[in-house]
Amino acid sequence: MHPVETADGSPTLYSERYREAYHPREGARAQAERLFVRLAGLSGRSEARVVEVGFGLGLNFLASLEAVRSEGGLLFFIGLEPEPVAPELLAEALARCRLAPDAHEPLLAAWERGRDFVVAGEGFVLELRFVRVEHARLPEGWADAVYYDPFSPRANPAAWSLAGLARAKDGLRPGGVLLSYAVAGWVRRNLEALGFAVERVPGELGKREWLRARRIS
Ligand SMILES: C[S@@+](CC[C@H](N)C(=O)[O-])C[C@H]1O[C@@H](n2cnc3c(N)ncnc32)[C@H](O)[C@@H]1O
Repeated sequence: MHPVETADGSPTLYSERYREAYHPREGARAQAERLFVRLAGLSGRSEARVVEVGFGLGLNFLASLEAVRSEGGLLFFIGLEPEPVAPELLAEALARCRLAPDAHEPLLAAWERGRDFVVAGEGFVLELRFVRVEHARLPEGWADAVYYDPFSPRANPAAWSLAGLARAKDGLRPGGVLLSYAVAGWVRRNLEALGFAVERVPGELGKREWLRARRIS
């Protein structure tokens, strides 16, 4: 695992195990803001609830927090992460990322304890569960959006299985959206089999298309 800087100056990590970086080299922060936060429609909400599959370095969480609280809203966020990075790597990434700096210290302090946690700060309540999505039990119909970010389907097919996607669906409210950079046919078919309306939307940052799937049943 080693740190890399992406094109917009925000940090990422390269995982030797998955042979992939945690974010596109075209911009980690840009992906957080344009794919996840924007397509989830979080801005302007008084309250937003998000589940993230693959919390990683927490950049998507921090970008969501900035968007929601800049308009006075409150963010409730559940992150799933089975392979937490070492606290030193998280600390280094946070130090290099300029998103929501006041949230870094409470996040790091809780992370260092190495167990599931809930931490709260200005405009947010963050719950971290150190579990794979396939084994997660999420509160039924809870989230407005699921960020599905556990590496690509090619690198990590188990996370994109029906079992994993079904757990994520359980946590999403009817009408809520699941967002991803993955548009592989078999992933879309899994989502459709679970009762999602799947849409491919124009992509950015090196991807021709991104995916938005709405829970309809
Ligand atoms: C692309 S990175 C996520 C980047 C992160 N969302 C961020 O904002 O920094 C993928 C993450 O998914 C995690 N992961 C891998 N398999 C998973 C699974 N089955 N369920 C949940 N998370 C998984 C990895 O440990 C890794 O931290």
